[in-house]
Amino acid sequence: METYLTELSAKGFIDEPIDPTLDLVEEINRLKIEKNAVLLAHYYQEPEIQDIADYVGDSLGLSQQAAKTEADVIVFAGVHFMAETAKILSPSKKVLLPDLKAGCSLSDSCPPHLFAKFKEQYPNHIVITYVNCTAELKALSDIVCTSSNALQIVDSLPVDQQIIFGPDKNLGDYVRKKTGRDLVLWNGACMVHEIFSQERIARLRAEHPDAKFIAHPECEKEILDVADYIGSTSGLLNYTKGNPADTFIVATESGIIHQMQKANPQKTFIPAPPNNACACNDCPYMKLNTLEKLYNCMKYELPEVDLPMDMIARAQRPIERMLEISARLGL
Ligand code: 13P
Ligand code: SF4
Repeated sequence: METYLTELSAKGFIDEPIDPTLDLVEEINRLKIEKNAVLLAHYYQEPEIQDIADYVGDSLGLSQQAAKTEADVIVFAGVHFMAETAKILSPSKKVLLPDLKAGCSLSDSCPPHLFAKFKEQYPNHIVITYVNCTAELKALSDIVCTSSNALQIVDSLPVDQQIIFGPDKNLGDYVRKKTGRDLVLWNGACMVHEIFSQERIARLRAEHPDAKFIAHPECEKEILDVADYIGSTSGLLNYTKGNPADTFIVATESGIIHQMQKANPQKTFIPAPPNNACACNDCPYMKLNTLEKLYNCMKYELPEVDLPMDMIARAQRPIERMLEISARLGL
């Protein structure tokens, strides 16, 4: 156990050698039953991980699953803030994350001690935070939201209620525009959604004039301004199912294309080009999870994501408020 803990603090994951003859998919499925574990995966995970998950979804769907699961162990194939959210919603469960270094640049762009000072400048404001933030930041908030329900959460508050929205300035700006509310925004952003190239997207659209251009609201305003549809990952996926177009240019992390392609085998999905030499839009944090790390994590039940009870108590109410409003609105 001690060796594993040393390994964990150095690497962030259990790096024990794995018998190369093992069928990891079979083994992971066996461990799920043996440990009464549920495997939750975000749409940005590698396809092989999505395909063995018990539930694949966006941040809202994953939180809803974590809140209602009867499993003893929640294995989170996603990033750290997602595993923390699961722990806050189900404190009695063991929550595992295959790689502790699976962080989030958006979450990192909002250090809680600075946000606390920012908040002090705006008394009488309600604080709505996007779920992509630390547990500590959630504890400083009144309501949490995801990209699936941000508009509805803001709309659910009285029109004269002043609001701080953080940490994503792009989502915040989009919500401001759609709701007509004057939100005070924290200046944070996601490294994956900030790199799309307007010029390269325009060229691609010229090559595919019938394609629909769809974007996640974490993208910059200039990208959102030209999108045919804007939505969370599940919103984007549903749009591709319901829209008759046969080609879609997709401005979000490339992992979602796996589900789009599965749901629409006859359609074509093109990742929107970023403004660098890379042809893909991978989140380096989401992609830290691998089948091997997942297997070791379930076998050794490490790394575990745990939080102090007082932090759980303070961060729980804002997330529960989000789930209550979402349930009331059928989201
Ligand atoms: P959603 O899951 O709400 O679409 O958000 C995407 C994201 O950036 C998760 O990190
Ligand atoms: Fe964070 Fe962006 Fe990666 Fe999502 S895609 S986990 S917001 S860095």
